[in-house]
Amino acid sequence: MSLTPIGEPRQKVTTATLRDKKLRHEPITCLTAYDYASARLVDEAGIDIILVGDSLAMTMLGYENTLSVTVDEMLHHTRAARRGVKHGMLIADMPYGSYHVSTDEAVRNAARFVKEGGAEAVKMEGGEKRSDLIRRVIDAEIPVAGHIGLTPQSVNVMGGYKVQGKSLSAIEQLMKDAVALDRAGVACIYLEGIPREVGAMITAEVETPTIGIGAGPQCDGQVLVFHDILNLTFGPAAKFVRRYEDVGAVISNAVQAFRADVISHQYPSDAESYHLPKDTQAALDTVLDRKRSMRR
Ligand code: KIV
Repeated sequence: MSLTPIGEPRQKVTTATLRDKKLRHEPITCLTAYDYASARLVDEAGIDIILVGDSLAMTMLGYENTLSVTVDEMLHHTRAARRGVKHGMLIADMPYGSYHVSTDEAVRNAARFVKEGGAEAVKMEGGEKRSDLIRRVIDAEIPVAGHIGLTPQSVNVMGGYKVQGKSLSAIEQLMKDAVALDRAGVACIYLEGIPREVGAMITAEVETPTIGIGAGPQCDGQVLVFHDILNLTFGPAAKFVRRYEDVGAVISNAVQAFRADVISHQYPSDAESYHLPKDTQAALDTVLDRKRSMRR
């Protein structure tokens, strides 16, 4: 099954595409995807960026937060998503700890996402304080996506998942962070969990395209988590989440219907079963008849 409309060949999305879109005021679309099937569906629907986010720690692996997911786990999912993406830009999240110890280790890990995972860019959380490191990664020919505001890898420092940028000093720091990332040459900046006014100010200030999640409508693009838009998250949704389908209910109904069919002997039907060829059946009947008559 292919969802790509016939007669509309798609250009490959690159970092240049994102810049062009910002200049033309064309909204950039981004969704997370963590495996072959979801990445392929997202890509074929025409989404610009497929983000293998470390949110997979919760959505795919059932962890409580993003902190424990490892580089190897992220790579496993990035490789799977890579096989499903043809046109969109594939960005992989660098997990917590993979770029916090030393610059060399960060560059080495970022290169693994490109070489082993097939990512076209890596995402790192943090602004001003990460800008030198980000320059080093870009120097290694690896495009980087920044991520500021509510940065889930800092959950213990923030004291929970709280909207950021609500005071004048916090706004000032966020502006400095955005400008530092802009100057470092990032491909795009994810803005998470900030007042819409601050999202708008940052977007107007920087040349880099901004992609918001809970950062208001004036960002250059929007990202949501695949499992959130489909109601596959087993909990209350954040304010910014829009549920487009209840796939959780669809799956649950299908599984319950299968169980009921098996228990009531409704599945499999004759039409869902393989049959012996007629001549084999006749030969088998003869053998069984002979055995029965010998037993008598
Ligand atoms: O991990 C993730 O899914 C993300 C997005 C929410 C931006 O970082």
